[in-house]
Amino acid sequence: MSKIKSLIWGVATAAAQTEGAYRTDGKGLSIWDVFTRKTHKIKDKSNAKVAINFYERYKEDIDIAVSIGLKVFRFSISWSRILPEGVGKINPKGIAFYNNVINYCHEKGITPWITTYHWDLPQKLQEKGGWTNREVINWYADYVTILRDHFGDRVKYWILINEGIVCMGGGYFLGVHAPGKIGIQNFLVSTHHLLLAQAKGFEVLKKKKNLKVGTAISCTKIEPYRNTSRDIKTAKRIDALMNRLFIEPHLGKGYPFQDLPILRRMSKYCIDGDEDKLKVDFDFWGIQTYTREVVKSTWYIPYLGALLVKPKYRNAETSIMGWETYPKGIPYFLNRFSKYDPKKPLWLTECGVALSEQEDDIKRIAYYREVISGMDSVLNEGINLKGILLWTLVDNFEWAEGYIPKFGIVSFDPKTLNRTWKKTAYWLKEYLSNIKL
Ligand code: NOJ
Repeated sequence: MSKIKSLIWGVATAAAQTEGAYRTDGKGLSIWDVFTRKTHKIKDKSNAKVAINFYERYKEDIDIAVSIGLKVFRFSISWSRILPEGVGKINPKGIAFYNNVINYCHEKGITPWITTYHWDLPQKLQEKGGWTNREVINWYADYVTILRDHFGDRVKYWILINEGIVCMGGGYFLGVHAPGKIGIQNFLVSTHHLLLAQAKGFEVLKKKKNLKVGTAISCTKIEPYRNTSRDIKTAKRIDALMNRLFIEPHLGKGYPFQDLPILRRMSKYCIDGDEDKLKVDFDFWGIQTYTREVVKSTWYIPYLGALLVKPKYRNAETSIMGWETYPKGIPYFLNRFSKYDPKKPLWLTECGVALSEQEDDIKRIAYYREVISGMDSVLNEGINLKGILLWTLVDNFEWAEGYIPKFGIVSFDPKTLNRTWKKTAYWLKEYLSNIKL
């Protein structure tokens, strides 16, 4: 049997992008509920108060995934739905909602995967400093304990933090994502706490036998613009930031400050024993990659000394996100992560392409065909890739880009919220039924 046939296919989603019901049944506010009040921060001035109302339509969405032939349904838990204040009193209706989602997945024969944190910190915790407050490590550990105790009997696969670099970079360095903080200090301190929290969350989950616990890492291939030593060094710096910072400390390799000197400042926030506490022996690593960046050296960008050479200046094909469409990043990163020690099973825990409302969905099919060929090549090289989770099932709230980019293989009507299969969904159903033959 060709190895590609053994891959497990699923779909990935996230609470803040899909659930809506932002105040229903006792949910507390999250930083995204508050951030979207500043409408100028969101391209189409939208918010996720309703989103695609997964809260009420979860059965329909799970049914669609099942009918396509998908085997994994990855969703995230909204922390403030479980703990409206971030800590303390549990909201029983929040627990009931996720129990329903999990139970329905089992009833329909699709495996539920939980992401514990997909960027929507409770606002109450933000008011106490959010990820910049070292206490967040305990807040997160207590929250994960609750998830483990309520859902760990029926959910085997867990992803702790989704894309650390994007939520820390966007939310605490550039201020383009919630909570809209800027500056290197905010970024460094919150990154350190996020990684420590993830390590502690791992310990908490592993207290329960048989759970498989991993992380989802955002990966972006970085290339130098010119073949000069300055641009090559610049590319290494940005690579350390984008692709190494959120995994190497967990592997016991410390922060990659040799290639990214600003990380030396991390020592300000480290206390004795932190380096050991950061070590995590994950059960698997989730790779998520969408694009590639080309960088050149510049003196006027502080700390990073890099300028992105936009895809339009290098004749590269871009998506509505303005990102270069780069499925070749998938085999590249699977290869690269397969060389880390210790070796771990790999999953593509997200991958996809955004199209505009007007574009023909055929382009998405072309994209996934390239993804399949990339996966096929790494499987033939013996790389331990287990499966692929598409981003995403239904178009949804794409953070600061609002509802403009369409990542889904299913669309929804903004007025009625009714779902409609796109060409990709039909194509995938056929592909999945054929590979089983
Ligand atoms: C990765 C993030 O996890 C997800 O939330 C986002 O929508 C996609 N990338 C596309 O940007």
